Amino acid sequence: MLGQALLVASRRPGLRKVVVGTPVTRRVVDRFVAGEALPDALAAVDALRRDGIAVTLDHLGEDITTRAEAVASRDAYLALLEGLAPQQLGRAAEVSVKLSAFGQALPGGHDLALELVRPVAEAATAAGTTVTLDMEDHTTVDSTLAVLAELRRDHPGTGAVLQAALHRSEADARDLAVAGSRVRLVKGAYAEPRTVAFTDKAEVDAAYRRCLEVLLTGDGYPMVGTHDPAMIALALDLVRRTARSADSYEFQLLYGIRTGEQQRLAAAGYTVRAYVPYGADWYGYFMRRLAERPANVQFFLRSLVKG
Ligand code: FDA
Repeated sequence: MLGQALLVASRRPGLRKVVVGTPVTRRVVDRFVAGEALPDALAAVDALRRDGIAVTLDHLGEDITTRAEAVASRDAYLALLEGLAPQQLGRAAEVSVKLSAFGQALPGGHDLALELVRPVAEAATAAGTTVTLDMEDHTTVDSTLAVLAELRRDHPGTGAVLQAALHRSEADARDLAVAGSRVRLVKGAYAEPRTVAFTDKAEVDAAYRRCLEVLLTGDGYPMVGTHDPAMIALALDLVRRTARSADSYEFQLLYGIRTGEQQRLAAAGYTVRAYVPYGADWYGYFMRRLAERPANVQFFLRSLVKG
């Protein structure tokens, strides 16, 4: 119930003003967000690389309402890729984008998002790395997968995200479990209606298991996006059973969440990638992290009381 309420709140501009304007929020946000500026993100990358952890960087932003903001998102990613260039990290530093930050929800937004994300994919390819298209609410899936197909013609390393919670995702996983296809499987972080999604946690977990099996027994490059020890154990079991090579899949976890597990997996020789968000527009991302875990809300409320 609380989680659902927070997810609804994550898309309310009025509440955004209250939460963002509360000075102590910042301390809690810092746990999940690497900072507001590019140098903050680059410092987080350095620290993770020292632990042998790869990164995918997300310049925060979503649900923008003007073309100018969409263009600004493109420019922020181009600056990010330029900022990463001197370190020559190649695939150890990828980028993740939300197409709603590229104008996907504006009139004519599908074409606009494709037009604006294409130069980012070109810059990523030039830097020897790739882009992953994050998945937002279920109304965006067809458009996002169509953008994926377009980008993959010239940039075959472009990846996408599937949300196990959506009924359609098992079929999408079958379609995408093909050679060269990079798919991050997550449980799904959006409030979705029962008509299109599993809403019960046990059902979502069962769907995650099914999708994981499809991807790990398929021919693509699965990116196992979860902090759940049971899902990580299942992935490792499937890897053993299918004799998958170490360079044909990876684990992905969010910045600041289960960092000990990130380090443990990396030290054990698995490819681990942390999803590192940075930027000023952290509200929606932060609220989804609160929604995932009631303990985060208690931590947040305690900080507000302490001041
Ligand atoms: P689950 O929610 O069952 O959590 C398992 C355990 O992980 C918890 O018991 C707790 O220990 C820890 N944990 C999980 N969330 C936590 C939190 N917020 N704070 C502290 N501990 C937490 N979603 C989406 O819809 N579109 C997307 O593009 C992405 N992208 C993405 C990238 C990556 C790399 C990851 C890891 C996740 C996403 N997600 C996402 C989010 C995803 O859908 C999901 O909401 C979260 O990963 C939480 O689900 P878990 O699989 O971790 O399991």
